[in-house]
Amino acid sequence: MAPFFNCCWAAMLLLALATYSYGAPAAPEDCNLLGEADQESKTEQEILASLAPMRSITFHDRVAKDGNDYTYQFRLCGTVGNTTGGGLVQIDNKNSQKETVIGRFNETYLIKGSDWILLMYRKGEKYDHHCNHEERKGMVMISCNSKTNGDNFKIMSEEREKVEDCFYLFEMDSKAACPPEDTHLSVGSILLIVLASLVAVYLIVGFLYQRLVVGAKGMEQIPNYSFWQDLGNLMADGCDFACRSKPRSVPTAYRGVGDDQLGEEPEERDDHLLPM
Ligand SMILES: *[C@@H]1O[C@H](CO)[C@@H](O)[C@H](O)[C@H]1NC(C)=O
Repeated sequence: MAPFFNCCWAAMLLLALATYSYGAPAAPEDCNLLGEADQESKTEQEILASLAPMRSITFHDRVAKDGNDYTYQFRLCGTVGNTTGGGLVQIDNKNSQKETVIGRFNETYLIKGSDWILLMYRKGEKYDHHCNHEERKGMVMISCNSKTNGDNFKIMSEEREKVEDCFYLFEMDSKAACPPEDTHLSVGSILLIVLASLVAVYLIVGFLYQRLVVGAKGMEQIPNYSFWQDLGNLMADGCDFACRSKPRSVPTAYRGVGDDQLGEEPEERDDHLLPM
C-alpha cells in the first residue's frame, strides 16, 4: 500500500507544482502593469482594456534626418522586431538593421485624460553615453480620433540630454482615447418629447371619447373639432390681417355666377352647371 500512496502523492505534488508555475506569471505575450496581478491599478487595467482595438496592429514610422535613418516600430502588448518583450524598438537602417529596444511591454504604464491616453514602456536597452547610462523608455501619446482604431504613429522627439529620466516621445491617434459618447438629452428635447406625448394622449383619448361616447362620425371625431376649426380660421384671419402688405384686390372669388357671365363661357363647358 505504502509505495502506491507515495507514488500518488508525488504525482499530485508534481501536478500542483505544474499548475502553479503555469498559472502564476502573466502570459508572456501581454502587457504587464506594475504590481502583482491582484495589486494592479484598476484604472490602468481599464485603460488597457479600452485600448483592445489597437492590439495586433504593428505601427511604423521611418525618419531620415541628420544623417540617420531610423524606423520605429510599436505594438500594444506584443513583440515587434527580434527581441522578445520589446514593444517599442528603433531599427537603424544605415547600420545593418541594428535593433535597439526602447521599451518593453512587461513594464507598461498608462495614464488617461479626457481625450488622450499616455502609454509608457520602460526597461529598454541602456544608453551607451547619455542619461547616465539609464534604461531607455518610450512614451506614446494617443489622441482621440473616432475614425480609426490606430493610425498616424509618429516619433515626436527624443530627449537624451538630461542627467536622467530621458525618453522617446511618440504620437498617434485612436478612438480608444475618445471620451464615452454623451447620450444625455438636453432639457429642450425632454420638454419636446413630453409635449409630443401629451398631444398624442390628447388626440387618442379625445378621438376615442368622440367616437365611442359621443358617437361622432368623420371629421367630428377629432376632439374639440369646432374649437380647432375656429382657431384655424382665426389664425388665417390674423395672418391675413398681419401679413398682407397691399389691400386685397377685387375679390373675384366671391363674384356671383350671374347670367351674363354664364353667357360668356363656352357652351359645352358649363352645360352640367345649369340647374336643370
Ligand atoms: C521584463 O522583461 C525583462 C527582460 O526579459 C526583465 O529583465 C524584467 O525584469 C521584466 N520585468 C517585469 C516586471 O517582469
